[in-house]
Amino acid sequence: MAIGDKMENKAVSSFNMAGVSCEDLVNEFGSPLYVYNAHTFRERFNSLQEAFDYPSVNIYYACKSNTNINVMKIFRELGSRVDTVSPGEIYISLKAGFGPEDLLYTPSNPTLEELRYASDRNVMVTIGSLEVMKQYASLDGRKDICVRVNPDIGFGHHDHCITGGPGSKFGIYFNQMDEAAALAGSLGLDIRGLHAHIGSGILKADQFIEAMDMVLKSTGGISSLDFVDFGGGIGVPYHPGEEPFDLKAFGIKASGFMKDFSEGYGRRLEFNFEPGKYLTAEAGYLLVTATNKKETPSYRFVGTDSGFNHLIRPILYGSYHHILNCSNPGGEPEEVLIAGNICESGDLFTIDSGGPRPRNMPRIRIGDILAITNAGSYGFSMSSNYNSRPRPAEVLVENGSARLIRKRETFDDLLRNVLS
Ligand code: LLP
Repeated sequence: MAIGDKMENKAVSSFNMAGVSCEDLVNEFGSPLYVYNAHTFRERFNSLQEAFDYPSVNIYYACKSNTNINVMKIFRELGSRVDTVSPGEIYISLKAGFGPEDLLYTPSNPTLEELRYASDRNVMVTIGSLEVMKQYASLDGRKDICVRVNPDIGFGHHDHCITGGPGSKFGIYFNQMDEAAALAGSLGLDIRGLHAHIGSGILKADQFIEAMDMVLKSTGGISSLDFVDFGGGIGVPYHPGEEPFDLKAFGIKASGFMKDFSEGYGRRLEFNFEPGKYLTAEAGYLLVTATNKKETPSYRFVGTDSGFNHLIRPILYGSYHHILNCSNPGGEPEEVLIAGNICESGDLFTIDSGGPRPRNMPRIRIGDILAITNAGSYGFSMSSNYNSRPRPAEVLVENGSARLIRKRETFDDLLRNVLS
């Protein structure tokens, strides 16, 4: 099985990434290690773009999922634009060679200084509250804006990742859109875009379509739109055997929606999507090394040289990440908990919302390399130095060769910026 292959529920007989063995990768670059398959990034981008039969669809890569500048450059070469949510993401995007016109800045609770940062660089801002609209209007700079609506509906793989509906802090509630339009007019702002992002990890195309319908109903009296942005959220299968998002059915339905809406609106609008996870999750693995084994009356533990400081999704959301034993794929199966090296009991890669969840794995020996799959999204980008552990290196595999794209942190990095 190679990285980026669609996961199937069958035994893995050999393990490599785009022709490079995971053991060789660890031998060359060390462990733990983030590795990405460039081909998978490209394949996912192209398949998404090809799914739509509508002439003006733009993909804005949600770079929060993976901000390595080399990954961003791949998406730039493919013709992507970028969804940014912080000045830091704007900064990296511009450094990656995107122009300000390629970016949309959709912050949550920004400061005036952050709004100014975007405005000074001529990046369009998405406004998600009436208060922020007033603050933005006080700046000199571009007066065309995008407005984020909360369409009263949300979906996602975990409560923390549902960003629409009455419990969500995001966007202007759909029933306040008339007020938003009037306020924008009185402040001299021109609403060019309508934006929504209702959650992350949506695997049912119908849910996405339902949300699109609600978003389009929220356009209210806004007659100045050039585009509607439906945000990100397309999920990927994390469990082997899980049904993937039906991209084909989605593309057909979404294209029909966009055509109908444009006709009713009186001109052809641009439609934007902001996928993160769909483009990057399946391209990445976190490779870790087994360092320890022990048994308690309840569990057999396998210890590793990484932890939730490097991949927080299991402990934070109870997310399942399929794990492969690259060094002993044909080993006798045994039930284990795979643990990290962080000093907290929840530091398990095999944990869900109900607590520790033992997993059947081919026997893991000390020194075996494990590949934690679907780690290309919200892996490195959510990592930390907790327990004063340096972050892993990142490697990009392309055409059968591996290239270091971020050096492993050192102890000096742990003291950088510290004053004594
Ligand atoms: N656009 C906006 C405005 C967003 O806030 C997000 C994600 C996206 C697009 C991209 O969503 P995606 O296609 O990646 O689902 N850390 C969580 C995901 C949080 C997503 C937050 N916003 C996870 O690991 O599942």
